[in-house]
Amino acid sequence: PKLDVRFDVAELVRRVPLFAGLPAERVSTIATLLRAQLALPGETIVRKGERGDAMFFIASGAVEVLVPTLAEPVKLGTGDFFGEMALLSRQRRNADVRALGYCQLLVLDEKDFRRLVQKDADLQSHIQAVAEARRQPTQSS
Ligand code: CMP
Repeated sequence: PKLDVRFDVAELVRRVPLFAGLPAERVSTIATLLRAQLALPGETIVRKGERGDAMFFIASGAVEVLVPTLAEPVKLGTGDFFGEMALLSRQRRNADVRALGYCQLLVLDEKDFRRLVQKDADLQSHIQAVAEARRQPTQSS
């Protein structure tokens, strides 16, 4: 069961470097698109093979990505994002992503993701560059 907790979303958005440099007005617009979600320790947030309908920003906490081609899980923390690859490639989730402790997440639904990157080329190319690096078999993050 997903636990939905109310946070100050704009405050959480500021913790994500991708958004931190944006003017306050943009931050509050983006904040309206993001949904706060609390992940519990050990919870699998994204499951390999599933259809992806959202991406996630970590406002606090850490997750591990179980990349099938890597011996060690990849750890992502505050300010990082995941779940972007399925949205960009329109393929299924390529790894399990599991919460390492309590995690405050910001969820961006696919339709809002498409709208957002369509309007913001810089945002799109940044997310694409990160996904590209992650696609390299030896790259950990
Ligand atoms: P997606 O395929 O939607 O769901 C699993 C996610 O794990 C993927 O998007 C990326 O966000 C993340 N991921 C996959 N491979 C790596 C990697 N090598 N390093 C970091 N994150 C990854």
